[in-house]
Amino acid sequence: MYSGHPMGLFPSHKNAPRMVVTNGMVIPNYSNGDDYTRMSALGVTSYGQMTAGSFMYIGPQGIVHGTTISILGVVRLYLEGEDPLPGALYLSSGLGGMSGAQGKAAVIAGCVGLLAEINPDAVKKRHEQGWVDEVYTELPALLDRVRKAKADKEAVALAYQGNIVDLWEALVDSDIAVELGSDQTSLHIPFTGGYYPVDMTYEESNEMLVADPATFKEKVQASLLRHIEAVNKMVARGTRFWDYGNAFLLECSRAGADIAKPDGRFIYPSYVEDIMGPLCFDYGFGPFRWVCTSGKPEDLFTTDRIAGEVMEKLVAIAPEETRQQYLDNLTWIRQAGANKMVVGSQARILYSDAEGRRAIAAAFNEAIKRGEILSPVVIGRDHHDVSGTDSPYRETSNIFDGSMFTADMAVQNCIGDSFRGATWVSLHNGGGVGWGEVVNGGFGMLLDGSDDCAQRLRSMLHWDVNNGVARRAWARNAGAEFAIERAMELEPNLKITKARHADDSIIEQAISKSFE
Ligand SMILES: NC(=O)c1ccc[n+]([C@@H]2O[C@H](COP(=O)([O-])OP(=O)(O)OC[C@H]3O[C@@H](n4cnc5c(N)ncnc54)[C@H](O)[C@@H]3O)[C@@H](O)[C@H]2O)c1
Repeated sequence: MYSGHPMGLFPSHKNAPRMVVTNGMVIPNYSNGDDYTRMSALGVTSYGQMTAGSFMYIGPQGIVHGTTISILGVVRLYLEGEDPLPGALYLSSGLGGMSGAQGKAAVIAGCVGLLAEINPDAVKKRHEQGWVDEVYTELPALLDRVRKAKADKEAVALAYQGNIVDLWEALVDSDIAVELGSDQTSLHIPFTGGYYPVDMTYEESNEMLVADPATFKEKVQASLLRHIEAVNKMVARGTRFWDYGNAFLLECSRAGADIAKPDGRFIYPSYVEDIMGPLCFDYGFGPFRWVCTSGKPEDLFTTDRIAGEVMEKLVAIAPEETRQQYLDNLTWIRQAGANKMVVGSQARILYSDAEGRRAIAAAFNEAIKRGEILSPVVIGRDHHDVSGTDSPYRETSNIFDGSMFTADMAVQNCIGDSFRGATWVSLHNGGGVGWGEVVNGGFGMLLDGSDDCAQRLRSMLHWDVNNGVARRAWARNAGAEFAIERAMELEPNLKITKARHADDSIIEQAISKSFE
């Protein structure tokens, strides 16, 4: 498949992928927004996207799981005390496509979730779906309810139908402690409807952004300055705030907020730099997915049970560094059925490292062979992972050795998956962060219960995870250095070039001498 065009069926051999998908692959000098507009209009390229472009979209449970893992990570990293902390308040905005997962995730993490959403239709949808429990349009009633939820240590998701700036400012004027704060308005498109300015109705904004875009931009930027000012006040009172990959801090700084540190980074961390990168990706933990091709809920039930049993065994032997990840995902998989996450395909997601992914896939393959699972299972993953994606402001944002703008890892990953037995592979330019900003790939592998398949899954999953761990170890990320050492102990044929750490004082001396 060439950017959506089915080029043809070419003879190969039985171990080859059945499909090779590329989207938006262009000559690097022709990868800006205008190039895309022209080539896409000509019908010669397409916007790849990430998970969906790899035929691995499984509905909203992927984002609920990822958000749950992030919030659990945040709670542990930023809050002291019980784990998870009952009664902790998580304040954010957005009940849209991805942001809509926040309420459900906060409840699973045991927090009080408080989410502002300006669009009544989005609020209604998440309320009907059960992802937020209660909706408020009046701030005094909402704040009373928040006080009660915190006092009673409830795990509950409360929605404010209104502007997030009004909510932050009301909390600043109240006695309520906000332990955790973030934002998920669509600030990657701030002036075309991604962010709604305070003191305007939803309808007024929608009219102005079409009729008078210049004034609308001014309103957005003025609103962002009030927004960040309220955040800063709450942070001074103890709130832990982080950027959720939506360009909130970038747009606040462009609006004139003084939030840069002397080293050029922002005063608040981003979720991949602080949380997902060091806690998950560096250890090889990422989004392992599967789909039961029978389409039968009983197959999904069986796979959930098997995955849970495998993870129980792995928790018992996991090193201290990764045990918590296993425990979180064990809790997730035990509750996954009850949380009714399935929309469409009978599919599941959990986070695991190479060992876990291989063990779970091998156990599924055995169960298919025995007939315990009725039909083949397809395994895959999304882009929010250790190896498949080079995206300097998101997946690879915690790589600091200067290699963050390279994309060898993603390309190598796709090539390596293809000859190790993937049923299909894909490689894309574009995706959630924009055309020209990311190279990412995916795969699908059909587990059919055969011995050949048992061999293929071992080889391919080992590479699919450890490729990225090796690259992160070479960048001297501590978790990855640990993980790659362990991977080499477990697999003697794996030989990775390891980084040698220089003594900083020697380097400083050498540099200062050369500038004398
Ligand atoms: N959830 C994640 O794990 C994750 C990861 C990476 C990036 N993001 C980013 O998060 C952002 C949101 O993603 P999405 O798919 O939910 O987008 P979306 O546009 O579907 O949802 C954003 C919601 O914010 C609401 N909103 C905008 N301004 C508001 C305001 N001032 N007050 C209250 N509500 C307001 C909008 O009405 C909209 O429903 C994107 O920029 C995305 O790239 C999320």
